[in-house]
Amino acid sequence: MKRIALPCGETLSALGQGTWRIGEDNRRRKGEMAALRHGIDLGLTLIDTAEMYGDGRSESLVGEAIAGRRGEVFIVTKVYPHNASRHAMPTACDNSRRRLGIEVIDLYLLHWSGSVPLGESVEAFERLQQSGKIRYWGVSNLDLRQMVALEAVHGGAGVQTNQLLYNLTRRGIEWDLLPWLRQRHIPVMAYSPFEQGGLLKAPRLVKYARQQGMTPAQVALAWLLAQDGVVAIPKTGSRERLEENARALSRPLTPQQLGELNALFAAPTGPVSLEMI
Ligand SMILES: NC(=O)c1ccc[n+]([C@@H]2O[C@H](COP(=O)([O-])OP(=O)(O)OC[C@H]3O[C@@H](n4cnc5c(N)ncnc54)[C@H](OP(=O)(O)O)[C@@H]3O)[C@@H](O)[C@H]2O)c1
Repeated sequence: MKRIALPCGETLSALGQGTWRIGEDNRRRKGEMAALRHGIDLGLTLIDTAEMYGDGRSESLVGEAIAGRRGEVFIVTKVYPHNASRHAMPTACDNSRRRLGIEVIDLYLLHWSGSVPLGESVEAFERLQQSGKIRYWGVSNLDLRQMVALEAVHGGAGVQTNQLLYNLTRRGIEWDLLPWLRQRHIPVMAYSPFEQGGLLKAPRLVKYARQQGMTPAQVALAWLLAQDGVVAIPKTGSRERLEENARALSRPLTPQQLGELNALFAAPTGPVSLEMI
């Protein structure tokens, strides 16, 4: 498994597991649980969730899936912007820890920037670190201007990742944000690597994947895995698809294939406003 280093020096599996919409439908619960657990078996030990997902039901399902396996996984969860204040964050964090059934969250992210000043959120993250409730903190959906502002606040340099929308059809961050993060050795956690499934039906990707003897999902993931300092967190509630996705790890793309994908899915030619889902 390719591993990506955080600024703190700890390394993460470059292919993780997303969990948005997991835990929301009891009929799918068993399959989703099996997929998550199988993912851990295959080395996809980074699990991404959020207090927002299913109003905590995703965190609860993750908690059940990792029961007895705490030492094997790296748990990322996210705090709502309206809970990112010095008063609200401790309670939000306790609620996430309780639902996840863990003492310490490995990486706690600000889900997106809201009305709470970044400096206040950083102070709240640091207090949680000092009290041993989180190990590291980071952000999500912050554009370059916001990252520059974060870097300027007291303690802001402690940020460990920026979780961003990044896939073959959403390459805007390559213009300025991704190089800025790379200069600082801050990895990107690429969310919605399949554009929530839509990318996998794109005729140019379907055709290209067939020519390469891969599936569209494998090409989409292998392309992300080829990017420096990028972790991908695809979501699936299916054990079979989980296996299919994990096989992308054993199909690294050649420089020629990367060039062909570049021709099919163009890189930005100028600044692009940060896109979010
Ligand atoms: N920070 C943020 O603001 C933010 C925003 C969005 C997402 N995220 C995180 O990123 C994770 C991934 O993004 P996402 O859930 O939005 O979308 P995604 O991973 O791009 O796509 C998930 C969709 O693709 C389908 N899928 C998965 N593997 C497949 C395969 N091999 N073949 C065909 N279809 C497949 C899934 O269906 P099945 O489940 O039925 O397989 C699901 O419908 C989220 O779960 C969440 O943890 C973060």
